[in-house]
Amino acid sequence: MLQIKRAGHSTLTTPDIERMIDYFTRIVGLSLSARDKNRAILATKSGVEAIVLERAGAVEAPRLSFQVAPGSDLGELASRLKKAGVQSERRSDITPGIGEAIAFKDPKGTTLEIFSDFAFAGEDPNFNGVMPLKFGHIAYQCPDVQGAVKFYCDMLGFRASDWRGDFFAFLRCSRDHHTVNFLRDPKTSIHHIAFEVRDWSDIRRACDLLARNDILLTWGPIRHIIGHNIAIYHKNPDGVTIEFFCDMDQMFDEDLGFFEPRPWHQDRPQRPKVWGDETRSNWWGPMSRGPSHAAAPAAEPAHRPSRKVAPGERAPAAARAHQRQVEKKSHKKAKSRR
Ligand SMILES: [Fe+2]
Repeated sequence: MLQIKRAGHSTLTTPDIERMIDYFTRIVGLSLSARDKNRAILATKSGVEAIVLERAGAVEAPRLSFQVAPGSDLGELASRLKKAGVQSERRSDITPGIGEAIAFKDPKGTTLEIFSDFAFAGEDPNFNGVMPLKFGHIAYQCPDVQGAVKFYCDMLGFRASDWRGDFFAFLRCSRDHHTVNFLRDPKTSIHHIAFEVRDWSDIRRACDLLARNDILLTWGPIRHIIGHNIAIYHKNPDGVTIEFFCDMDQMFDEDLGFFEPRPWHQDRPQRPKVWGDETRSNWWGPMSRGPSHAAAPAAEPAHRPSRKVAPGERAPAAARAHQRQVEKKSHKKAKSRR
């Protein structure tokens, strides 16, 4: 098994590479670290490659890169994969930052490029756009979610953070709650790409910046229950859903086995688990300007009259504490009557 440490970059194909370079530099706030006629490399302001654009007829996400521990022997990793029945090939000059990688396809057909050593892009001193900290996660739709999860856990060292029912999986390779998602759908396709921003004030700034550029949110701001990240969603010029998020659940210590306790958690402690199909997608309630996001099957229409949420529906831990208080009081009463 390999041990992935972090996501590198996602390769996106586009019919209009100039339009997408403009979007990713001016709106998202990545910097253009290299380009030729049919390809562009985009990095965060701090020089970590995040997106590779390639000119093509269709909008797809055909490749995804991951980093293993620096200094790892790629040849040894390839033979380890071979023993497990996965054929890989050696590739070089993946991007300006990635000289060497081994490449193979995952079960749904995405080519994974595994690299160990990485060179940062030059610093971009310009402050413009949303300027995310990093490429945070990518969600795919595919028919065989269980098969994809098994491959990522058995071959790449991912851990399952949470499931929604048996159709939506959240996998981590670092302390972040999820770096890849798989959502069941008959057709394999990209669902969304997410960039992490610093905090809530960056989310607010992103909302204003998007609106200033006539890009309307399709969902949010919300706080997810699964992962608990604050998130906003919009569509880029190619129609791909882009998320900006902050405040995602953190598993600081795998041995402890729970996410860092936070006041908005439903369980105490919050451990990886299977959430019911009915789990709300937005802890704060329905807040959607556009049509329901596909990842929000429980999203309710924005005009729905507000109703009182039963404590147990929203925060089982708080509900249990409330129940204990009630029991204590009635016990005291009964005692005083005796
Ligand atoms: Fe997401």
